[in-house]
Amino acid sequence: MAQNYDAVRKDIVAILKKPDWDDGSLGPVLVRLAWHASGTYDSKTKTGGSNGATMRFKPESSDGANAGLEHARAFLEPIKQKHPWISYADLWTLAGVVAIEAMNGPKVPWKGGRSDVPPKVAQAQPAKVIPPNGRLPDAAQGAQHIRDVFYRMGFNDQDIVALSGAHSLGRCHTDRSGFSGPWTHTPDRFSNQYYRLLLNVDWREKKWDGPKQYVDPDDELMMLPTDMALIWDPKFKPYVELYAKDKEAFFKDFAAAFAKMLELGVTRQKL
Ligand code: HEM
Repeated sequence: MAQNYDAVRKDIVAILKKPDWDDGSLGPVLVRLAWHASGTYDSKTKTGGSNGATMRFKPESSDGANAGLEHARAFLEPIKQKHPWISYADLWTLAGVVAIEAMNGPKVPWKGGRSDVPPKVAQAQPAKVIPPNGRLPDAAQGAQHIRDVFYRMGFNDQDIVALSGAHSLGRCHTDRSGFSGPWTHTPDRFSNQYYRLLLNVDWREKKWDGPKQYVDPDDELMMLPTDMALIWDPKFKPYVELYAKDKEAFFKDFAAAFAKMLELGVTRQKL
């Protein structure tokens, strides 16, 4: 069958608006799926990454960091059924890119050709083809941990700050990560608001029994400990200031870093 990615893009755009889901858009959770599928990459062992779509299998599917992404994968399933030629690995990464653009974000360069690890191979050699749990970042930690995780993928400090701007989108859910609330006033729009809020709001610890997180004085918006690390760390902070001032620079740098992330470990050989 002809590989008509534009038809898939159109079908992804068509499912994004969903009034009864969070803030009315599936976009944020699809962006999180694309990132978590890719963010397992380890540049030393050249394992993990979006190729293979290994989040279909345990242990990756049951990694606590991926809680809630079963919904994102299920939302995309009808599109996979309609276009069976596309791999899950391509569909999940393309959905992230399409969602960002549809939510007023930058065009992120994307190329197809990923393939999926066949279930038989995943079953026979799980340790060989499925990345272990624990490669995605832990929001309760600080700058050193963020660097450990993103340097492992091959990113630098500026990339880390640019990629984190995706938290202009979506929200935290107590039944997934344990954290609660959106980062910005417009969680269905991609913008540089996250950086402006980081710098300008009087963030304080939320008073609750949940995990440590930060809230604005009205307890409407939130920041994770790892978000706060971007203004507490003297090497990260100048990039927060840059992107707060310069939306174009943020869009350009985010698009380049996110495109690079989606390519990590992609070989385009049949798995
Ligand atoms: C949501 C942590 C980096 C995109 C979340 C949530 C946590 C988290 C705890 C809430 C999940 C939930 O309860 O539903 C982190 C940490 C990061 C990081 C610790 C790095 C230090 C990124 C990056 C991207 C991203 C690099 C994309 C480029 C998102 C999006 C959501 C989200 C779009 C919202 C999902 C939704 O609304 O369902 N993140 N994240 N995050 N993250 Fe991150």
